[in-house]
Amino acid sequence: MKSRNDGESNAAGKTLLVTQALPYANGDIHLGHLVEAVQSDIFVRFQKLSGNRVLFVCADDTHGTPIELTALKRGITPEELIGEAWKNHVRDYAAFSIGFDVFHSTNSEENRKYAEYIYTMLDKKELIVEKEISQFYCEHDRRFLPDRFVIGTCPKCGAPEQYGDVCEVCNSTYDSADLVEPVCYICRRTPVRKTSIHKFVRLDKQEDFLRDYINNRPVLSDDMKNFVNNWLKEGLKEWCISRDGPYFGFKIPNTDNKFFYVWLDAPIGYISSTEKWCTDNGEKTETFWGEDSGCDVIHFIGKDIVYFHALFWPVMLHSAEINLPKRIFVHGFLTVEGEKMSKTRGTFVLARDFAQKLTHPQATEYLRFFYASKLSSHAGDIDLSSEEFCKRANTTLANNIGNLHHRTFVFCDRYFDGTVPDAEWDETIEKEVHQAAEEIRAAYETVEYRKVIEKVHGLGNRGNRYYQDSKPWELIKQDKDAAAKVMVTCANLVKACGVFLKPVVPHIVAKMERQFGTEFSWPDYAFSLRNRKLNPTEKLAAPIEVELLRKMFTINKEAAPEASQLELKPEVDIETFGRIDLRTGTIKSAGRIKKSRKLIKLQVEIGPETRQIVAGIGEQYEPDSLPGRQIVVVANLKPAKLMGVESRGMLLAATDGESLVLLNPESPLPSGARIS
Ligand code: MSP
Ligand code: ZN
Repeated sequence: MKSRNDGESNAAGKTLLVTQALPYANGDIHLGHLVEAVQSDIFVRFQKLSGNRVLFVCADDTHGTPIELTALKRGITPEELIGEAWKNHVRDYAAFSIGFDVFHSTNSEENRKYAEYIYTMLDKKELIVEKEISQFYCEHDRRFLPDRFVIGTCPKCGAPEQYGDVCEVCNSTYDSADLVEPVCYICRRTPVRKTSIHKFVRLDKQEDFLRDYINNRPVLSDDMKNFVNNWLKEGLKEWCISRDGPYFGFKIPNTDNKFFYVWLDAPIGYISSTEKWCTDNGEKTETFWGEDSGCDVIHFIGKDIVYFHALFWPVMLHSAEINLPKRIFVHGFLTVEGEKMSKTRGTFVLARDFAQKLTHPQATEYLRFFYASKLSSHAGDIDLSSEEFCKRANTTLANNIGNLHHRTFVFCDRYFDGTVPDAEWDETIEKEVHQAAEEIRAAYETVEYRKVIEKVHGLGNRGNRYYQDSKPWELIKQDKDAAAKVMVTCANLVKACGVFLKPVVPHIVAKMERQFGTEFSWPDYAFSLRNRKLNPTEKLAAPIEVELLRKMFTINKEAAPEASQLELKPEVDIETFGRIDLRTGTIKSAGRIKKSRKLIKLQVEIGPETRQIVAGIGEQYEPDSLPGRQIVVVANLKPAKLMGVESRGMLLAATDGESLVLLNPESPLPSGARIS
């Protein structure tokens, strides 16, 4: 893509295009998504505050089988599903002041255009090859069954009812061909294998380019760079970018019934959303994506999607002669109260629930502040503990900065008639602020927000100490000029803190902006206030009680499903059920299977026989605790191999999606007893 630099861009500032990953239209925005939204939004606000031209772009990621499946389950069309998601997503991000300039959709004509263009360029550069592959096909539904459309028993842990690509019980990924007893998700019939010709991208041909791009430009942090270099070392496989129809996505030009795989058109959404904004605002997409536009393209993503952004995406852009990302910032995952977010614990919190149920006027700003206080340029996971959340918001915002602001302006109201008096300020403190400003700017540029918060907190402390030590309440009686100097110094220090915090907590800082009658930009951190009448003082931030968060987690707990909401498998008749031979068994011995966290190998006595059974219960049970237990066994299950170990039968266990418990007879019985 060629760009004409018509000299329109701000002479002093840079032009940046910032993105966060495009959320799947398949689900709601939750607190995990907000880590990234807040991280990127703070960066954008800082850049805008500094006078740079920034376009902040996002969209919903709308294609692929999970979306089709969810729509199928809900009895609506994929278009209806993504329309609903779009509205919800826009509303949820807005509640946390995520200021996208555009929030578009990958199911758009702009996106189709760029998907086709980039594909054509890949083809022109001879990077596309065709290969025949064999996949499951349902003869009843007359369709290929992509990963999510086929279910069966996990080949690794033996959990039943797992998708074709990943087991939700043991998290292992595998090829759907390895599923044990696969069935079609739609009709539950056994599929057949069928071959079809697919399109692949020869990533290996671009290895030199990638190696140079990753290593000779400051795209990734060092730890991420190592990660990607390891992938490069292992050698890049060909990447399959086509799916057989029906598929919710874009048809590949000049093919019979092939569609672009969702991950091909998803990142292209960054470009097409830019185009949407440009069309609406009379600008050119090339200003941002032109190869020689000079625009800095900056991505924020989670550590789970580095492969797509650091390998596939640059190859696509490079081949299509489009601007390459200048920087990819990678963050870790959010845990809540020290653990993975969980629906039963109430810690899987949706953005809208946090915004609506947490009845504190600054709650959403506090979340931004809390994330900022935890975020750095490293991709380590971050934990939201309700106690730390409240402590940080209360200590820095409500107490430290809030207190300095409050005592300063209450004093000015009372003794100086609501004016910042006319006096010199303390030059030592002014110097300290200038020094801090440089450090804070550097920290923002490198997304070391934790440091930003530390520095501002330090300045707040400094101000409060200075106020305390200067004793203006005594000075005012003997030496009004000296008291005036303290006030001028504190007022300017508060203003500087406001400027520094504006990208993080824009609404709290807006109160100061109203008070000072100005909208801050970065240079406003410099001391400048004296002899100035102010607008009324608003209290910046109220303390928050930890109970409020705990209460939200409690009411957010997912109740046990009601009978009417049970999602059942299709009905079976009594004969079908009668074909399953359930027996009591007694565990004789148990041991772990090497290299598996989940799998335990058991010898189970069932009447006169002793059977070897492999069960995926290794995370819940220690092998030592098992011998002697009575259990329930499916005794006539076809033998299968799990990680190469033969299993003849299956234990029954109950799970609510998190805990898993073995079933056993209410009182002991000889093993081999019939269960019906
Ligand atoms: N649709 C893809 C991205 C396509 S980008 C061209 C996707 N969507 S997602 O909804 O699953 O995730 C969106 C972003 O949120 C990803 O960067 C992901 O890492 C991030 N997060 C999702 N859950 C998260 C946490 N629990 N914690 C932190 N970030 C998380 O991936
Ligand atoms: Zn079927």
